[in-house]
Order: sequence, then C-alpha cells, then structure tokens
Amino acid sequence: MSIYFTKTFQRSFGTYPLRGDELTATLKTAVDIGYRSIDTAQMYQNESDVGDAIAALRMPREELLVTTKVHPDNFGEDKFLASVEQSLRDLKLDYADVLLVHWPPLAKKYGLARHIGVSNYTARMMRDAASICDEPLVTNQVEFHPLLDQSILLDAAAKTGIPLSSYCSVARGEVFKYPIVGEIGAVYGKSPGQIVLRWILQQGVAINTMSTKPENIRANFDIMDFVLSHVDMAQLSKMCATNFRIVGIDKVPWAPDWD
Ligand SMILES: NC(=O)c1ccc[n+]([C@@H]2O[C@H](COP(=O)([O-])OP(=O)(O)OC[C@H]3O[C@@H](n4cnc5c(N)ncnc54)[C@H](OP(=O)(O)O)[C@@H]3O)[C@@H](O)[C@H]2O)c1
Repeated sequence: MSIYFTKTFQRSFGTYPLRGDELTATLKTAVDIGYRSIDTAQMYQNESDVGDAIAALRMPREELLVTTKVHPDNFGEDKFLASVEQSLRDLKLDYADVLLVHWPPLAKKYGLARHIGVSNYTARMMRDAASICDEPLVTNQVEFHPLLDQSILLDAAAKTGIPLSSYCSVARGEVFKYPIVGEIGAVYGKSPGQIVLRWILQQGVAINTMSTKPENIRANFDIMDFVLSHVDMAQLSKMCATNFRIVGIDKVPWAPDWD
C-alpha cells in the first residue's frame, strides 16, 4: 500500500444515492475541492453514472482511487468475476483500486482490482477473513459515527490489521441533533460535521462522506488542520451509548448479527 493510497483513502467521497447530472456535478465539485477517492457499489445501481462522471473529469486514471463493492447476489464463484467485469465496463475503467467484499482475492489475481477489502464484516468475520486471505485486506467499511458503539470492531481492526473505514459518518444528519457536537465545534472554530469526522479519523478510521452541497463537501474535506483533545474525544465517545444504528437488519435482510 503506497503513502498516496493511504492518504487519499482517508477521505473518500460517497456516491450513494446520487445519479445522472447531479452525480456528475457533485463529483466535479468534490474533485475541485480535493477529493481523489470515490466510493460506489453494484448495489447503488449508479456505476454507469459514476463512470460517466469520472470520464467527464478528464483526469489521469492514476490520480483517482475508485472503490466498488460486489453485490451479495454475485458472491458465488460462478458470478463473481463476471459481475466485477460488468462493474468495470459500467465504470469505464480497466481496474478498480479497491474492491470490497467476500471473494475478492480472485479479482485481484486477474488484475481487476489493485486492493481488496470487505464491508459490513463483524469482528468474527474480520478474524476469519484475516486468517483465510493471504492478500492484505485494506479496509472493512462499516457504519461508523459517534452514535454507535463500534469498539468491538476497533479492537478487531487492531488485532487483525484490517483498518476500518466509515459510512453514514454523520449518521445521515442525526448527530447534529446533539448540542455537545456544536459546543465542541465552537471551541475549535469548526462545524459540527467537521468535529464528527475528526473524531472518526483520530481513531484511525478512514472516512466516507456524501453531500450534495459544495459547502458541506468542502467542510468534510477540510479536517486536517486541527486535533481534538483527549477530553473532547472522550466526550464524543460517550455518545456511543445511544447505540443508534442506521443500516440494521430491518433495512438490509442479509445484514449479519452485528457486534
Ligand atoms: N458499505 C455500505 O454498506 C454502505 C452503506 C451506506 C453508505 N455507504 C457509502 O457511504 C457514503 C456516505 O454514507 P451516507 O451518505 O449513507 O451517510 P452520511 O454521510 O452520514 O449522510 C449523508 C447526508 O448527510 C448530509 N451531510 C453530509 N455532510 C454534512 C455536513 N458537513 N453538514 C450537514 N449535513 C451533511 C448530506 O446532506 P447534504 O447533501 O444536504 O449535504 C447527506 O444527506 C455513501 O454515499 C456510500 O458511498 C456504504
């Protein structure tokens, strides 16, 4: 894993649920602001639109990190590679930089992915994956925000060497209902969103964010010029007791029994 990869992957721009012209315009804004890592998935049904938006950027391929994820319906060995090839046709790319989920070693072997990882894995699954897979797994992308206790996964990340990355990083706006976030933000001269993202990053967790608003896209990227104190980190961590999960079994039938 190169330093460019590690630094760029720290702040990824999520594309769900964006489509069409809105996706093209929003991605252009994100790239102008500085994002170089883009997150999509077969499940979002927008890979083709993401491909169009990337083509419109007219950027050298090697400057972008593109992550996509194999749909659970395609996990079978008979479907897996064909689905990745279809993703790449839709994305209009020769390879994905990061391919997430279950059987990714196969795709890496065939040159379709530069890095492999998983998403929505529990701690036990992380341990199993680390012991089975002889390729490094560059991430386990999971729901991660201050309203959800993910300490078991953080512990598994430290023990397995599979770093976490976040989705629903601002809990789709739910975190902003808690005044403490704004109060800490006032101390640092930062917005509540920036405080939340910094709290995630300071735990060694890479960030995925999605916004359609240029001011939010910029704020979510501008989080490298301050450091939260231990006291403020601990204050924010107390919110984890809320245990508010967005992507649960009620929304995703194939969700595992979360830790
Ligand atoms: N692996 C998985 O299973 C999985 C699951 C879900 C999502 N994801 C990925 O993670 C990405 C992000 O997750 P998400 O979009 O579900 O949740 P999110 O980032 O927590 O929430 C996005 C929402 O928060 C708002 N927002 C973003 N930044 C803000 C800020 N600084 N201040 C105020 N509001 C802000 C946005 O509204 P505005 O547009 O109004 O700014 C948007 O509606 C997705 O796009 C997708 O790529 C992965």
